[in-house]
Amino acid sequence: MKRIGVLTSGGDAPGMNAAIRSVVRYAVHNKIEVIGIFRGYAGLINEELKELNHRSVSNIINRGGTMLKTARCDEFLTEEGQRRAVQAIKKNKIDGLVLIGGDGTYRGGIELVKKWHLSCIGIPGTIDNDLNGTDSAIGCDTAVNTALEAIDKIRDTSTSMERIFVIEVMGREYGFIALQVALGGGAEEVLLPEKKFDFPRMCDEIVEGNIRGKVSWIIIVAEGAHLPDGQIAKAQDIAKKITEMTGLETREVVLGHIQRGGIPTARDRILATRLGAAAVELLMNGQNGKAVGVISDDINVVDLEFAVTKKELKVDNFYRLIKILT
Ligand code: F6P
Repeated sequence: MKRIGVLTSGGDAPGMNAAIRSVVRYAVHNKIEVIGIFRGYAGLINEELKELNHRSVSNIINRGGTMLKTARCDEFLTEEGQRRAVQAIKKNKIDGLVLIGGDGTYRGGIELVKKWHLSCIGIPGTIDNDLNGTDSAIGCDTAVNTALEAIDKIRDTSTSMERIFVIEVMGREYGFIALQVALGGGAEEVLLPEKKFDFPRMCDEIVEGNIRGKVSWIIIVAEGAHLPDGQIAKAQDIAKKITEMTGLETREVVLGHIQRGGIPTARDRILATRLGAAAVELLMNGQNGKAVGVISDDINVVDLEFAVTKKELKVDNFYRLIKILT
């Protein structure tokens, strides 16, 4: 390994910069050149490359977003797009790639390894935390904390005005953020992609609670949750339906992209820093098609193909506790 490339792709996640810094400095320490690839796979196709040195990554460990920019790239899904990306890698004498991102980023890596015989190592960077082989992906801890901060503020107005609030959080098809913030934020209810939801039962609980004097509710909705009729559970629709069924004033909030920004937490920075170095180590040791992660605080290595298989979210104990403590 004389020269490696590093890119961030898909949705940005707080801590990606700390991972880039670690990759660059760990590689340079080991006399390996690093090429920064801008805008993910799109930048690879268009050869948006720049050599990075120790100094290029100064003062970024504490910054959200990604200094390399990121993008979702449909062109890379085509044979022609991949051929151009591979040409760019060969022309620039890049011996291996570090790919920082989520599911789509890893799937791109699998193509490059299997079809085009390139060396790739993945680092999990996604607020959704839906990749297998790691307890945490870079960014999910910050996202949970950001969402919690917002929920705490909503609670102030919810209790003061004695209202029900339905708060939608991100997570695509995986309810990790929703479950964490529901427990950590003291929510009364949570709707998850992983759990069937009994809407009339919740409305009965709201009405019964109201009779006893419990007037404010925080209901968390994961963006990938479904209602029993198969419809996607949108905060706005749920709030409207609750008012219809209970007669009680309900408001909705969609937290949205705020969850992807901000200063990375200590946990995310430390995770990113460890994983960046681990990824470079793997390339130096001739490993390929792998993803790094942490399980029980130890570095863990799995195949990229395993990392993108459906990750199980253990819901029951958390949900039980949420309902007991309501
Ligand atoms: O994968 C990260 C994520 O923020 C998901 O939680 C969300 O569903 C999606 O990206 C939003 O993507 P975009 O920013 O492209 O709208």
